[in-house]
Amino acid sequence: MTGLFITLEGPEGAGKSTNREYLAAQLRADGIDVLLTREPGGTPLAERIRELLLAPSDEAMHADTELLLVFAARAQHLAEVIRPALARGAVVLCDRFTDATYAYQGGGRGLSHERIAALESFVQGDLRPDLTLVFDLPVEVGLARASARGRLDRFEQEGRTFFDAVRSTYLNRAKAEPGRYRLVDAAQSLPDVQRSLDALLPELLSLHRG
Ligand SMILES: Nc1ncnc2c1ncn2[C@@H]1O[C@H](COP(=O)(O)OP(=O)(O)OP(=O)(O)O)[C@@H](O)[C@H]1O
Ligand SMILES: [Mg+2]
Repeated sequence: MTGLFITLEGPEGAGKSTNREYLAAQLRADGIDVLLTREPGGTPLAERIRELLLAPSDEAMHADTELLLVFAARAQHLAEVIRPALARGAVVLCDRFTDATYAYQGGGRGLSHERIAALESFVQGDLRPDLTLVFDLPVEVGLARASARGRLDRFEQEGRTFFDAVRSTYLNRAKAEPGRYRLVDAAQSLPDVQRSLDALLPELLSLHRG
């Protein structure tokens, strides 16, 4: 039995972390083995790389350095956590994955699609998410939610142009490959977002059954 690889994507404050817990609880209630994880991070070493990526610093991080750190963390996470969980048949719910690299390092930082795609193949081989939920909402709504949480990380300190590019990259990717992506209107109230997720559950369960 192979598992099911589901990623949750969207900008800061979209509700990915809030709703991954909700989705995990719904799936576990059906007796499903769920692995809940996140990127960058998901293993002790990858979480240390996450700290490097998120911490504001006096030394500006070169965009290539950022891209390589993201994929270095991903290589570790795949080897130690994601691939073993999929191999035992679990549903892996991952808060951000390579779509975030296209959105942030591609759209936001301006690195080329080809460069990201080359690293994607190198690190992941043929592995791609089975399903990607894109939590979409207006940039200012997401930033307001995120900044209500307190100190801003290195990405949250970026400006409007950066986040417009992040959002449009997610939307373009979803449009280009509708089979893999499901858009969730994340500007709705939390109960309404969760009703949207409930509506996706039968599809998730049938994908997992194969
Ligand atoms: N639909 C919603 N309506 C109002 N507030 C929400 C909604 N969803 C989440 N929130 C709140 O917004 C804040 C950000 O949510 P959350 O941390 O889940 O976002 P995130 O997508 O994980 O963000 P990040 O990418 O920065 O980790 C939290 O305080 C959460 O309680
Ligand atoms: Mg989060």
